[in-house]
Amino acid sequence: MLKFSRNIFIAVLVLFLVFALVACGSKQEGEKKTEPIVIKFSHVVAETTPKGQAALKFKELAEQKTGGKVKVEVYPSSQLFGDKEELEALIANNVQFIAPSVTKLVGLNPQFQIVDIPFLFKSEEAALKFYQGPAGQKLLKSLEDKGIIGLAWWPNGAKHFTNSKRPLRRPEDFKGLKFRTQSGGVLEEQFKLLGAGSQTIPFGEVYTALQNKTVDGQENTFNNIDTQKYAEVQKYLTVSGHGRLDYVVLTNKTFWDSLPEDIKKALEEALAEATEYEIKLSTELNQKSMENLKKSGKLEFYYLTPQDREAFIKVFEPLYKKYESIIGKEIMDAARNAE
Ligand code: LMR
Repeated sequence: MLKFSRNIFIAVLVLFLVFALVACGSKQEGEKKTEPIVIKFSHVVAETTPKGQAALKFKELAEQKTGGKVKVEVYPSSQLFGDKEELEALIANNVQFIAPSVTKLVGLNPQFQIVDIPFLFKSEEAALKFYQGPAGQKLLKSLEDKGIIGLAWWPNGAKHFTNSKRPLRRPEDFKGLKFRTQSGGVLEEQFKLLGAGSQTIPFGEVYTALQNKTVDGQENTFNNIDTQKYAEVQKYLTVSGHGRLDYVVLTNKTFWDSLPEDIKKALEEALAEATEYEIKLSTELNQKSMENLKKSGKLEFYYLTPQDREAFIKVFEPLYKKYESIIGKEIMDAARNAE
């Protein structure tokens, strides 16, 4: 009798242990399932810029719309990757979202240099229309065979020249100076035609290059000039609006294709809202930065006149001809004629 009850006791104990183990295992499995999908979003500018703020807005909306199933980690100011590394990291899926300046895609598709063709877009609105129209969308799609999906255009604004040597009013004022460029043949050619030199330098190293006089000048939006404190190491600003400095939001194709449909939809919605926010903010922040720069009194401003502009356009004639065959007439015309 005693032996019988002992056997029952052992059987119950074994059953209890098996049950406890199964319960514990399935709990762990359940926990694993709720682990969020992590999106690393890396960029090179300050958090206070349109791109920096829009990346944070995307994070907020993406986490909210997926009910926490997605976690977005934003890394600003080249903290995680600089200019060149961020593209390589995206292709390797070491980072899932980046928003590089369009110019930096020249190695993947030289047609992106449309943004650098001097004095091509008529206005801020024209650039936006181009990006949202068929030519802009075709450019975004062109990255798919490189394992990249172009999700959105985020404009920043028009570029202006700064330098430490003298006021730049006419093409001849550029002679003998050296400028930092982002990358690509158009920018190199632009300075060559002005009789100036150029050097490609990652964004994170520009301030030091200006300070050390590795280069005399650079070209950027009011907001980048302001938030990078270039006024500390530059003396003259030419309000030229000669080219564009805008962004494309990119993701890794393998990562994107692996997402469940409902998550993809929520992320697309979050990005659409963050894009609207970015567009509005880019105008506001560039205006505010222009005022800050003026108020600081550290930079001497010069505004190109219509005559100055014509003189530059004349100098750039060979550039327009050469790059029409590289970029394609269709894209050039779409940019030129956008209103
Ligand atoms: C630059 O390199 O000048 C800019 O593209 C940086 C940025 O992302 O705005």
